[in-house]
Amino acid sequence: MQNLAKYKKVLFEAADESAKIISKHYNTKFKIGRKSAYNDLVTEVDKKSETKIIEVIHSHFPDHNVLSEEAGDLNLRSDYVWIVDPIDGTVNYAHALPIFCVSIALEIKKEVVLGLVYNPVSGEKFFSEKGKGATLNGKKIHVSDKEQLRDAILVTGFPYGAKDNPGHCIDHFVNFLKCGLPIRRLGSAALDMCYVACGRFDGFWEVSLNPWDVAAGYLILNESGGKMTDFNGGKYSVYNKQILATNGKIHKEMINVLKKPYHE
Ligand code: IPD
Ligand code: CA
Ligand code: CA
Repeated sequence: MQNLAKYKKVLFEAADESAKIISKHYNTKFKIGRKSAYNDLVTEVDKKSETKIIEVIHSHFPDHNVLSEEAGDLNLRSDYVWIVDPIDGTVNYAHALPIFCVSIALEIKKEVVLGLVYNPVSGEKFFSEKGKGATLNGKKIHVSDKEQLRDAILVTGFPYGAKDNPGHCIDHFVNFLKCGLPIRRLGSAALDMCYVACGRFDGFWEVSLNPWDVAAGYLILNESGGKMTDFNGGKYSVYNKQILATNGKIHKEMINVLKKPYHE
């Protein structure tokens, strides 16, 4: 593995610059637009944060490609792709709920090698470099050691069109509720994954996510001892829509619940 120090420096610089913008506008008035659905929001702060992140990356590495939620795929031919969500948890941000983050990952030759998820309000910075574990504000983190689903606390999220039950998202939620488990819906997939990585949650599932939601969280969780697959236990990539992410120990039991809508 090549020396990633120079990329790591830029990763932190981009996230810190973004965090300044996000913090400055937090709980103030800003323009809000709508995207795929009435509740699928984008604020002018998402765009400002994204512009700054891309500016920082390209000021150091002008040839690197960027795949970012609002700007899309910049389509620069490169082995280096920065995968960016300028605010993950935009609906929370728009309502001054302090559960959101900036999420940035670097993929080299299709492999995620760096990931950073930063919530500037809580001050929590989750980071991972491939092969070197994961940290929260510099301290090593690890997934929980809960052995059984009955002892677990779970988190999930819903796509913007959830009312129509795409991918059985409502059925899955009901089925886990029927297991009698505590379930949370925080509104930021990147934080959901980091919270599994540091043992706050034992499992997370969602039916339809994008690479910018999960790329950094994927590495952080993987390097914390977590397990990620699709709902059948199949191989996971950050380009998958479905994700089941757990501490590894309750994975099989969660798959059994996720199979239910297809057998009923
Ligand atoms: C959303 C959040 C949310 C998840 C949605 C995502 P955004 O990202 O991660 O938790 O349930 O599926 O789209 O729009 O806030 O960047
Ligand atoms: Ca997102
Ligand atoms: Ca976003």
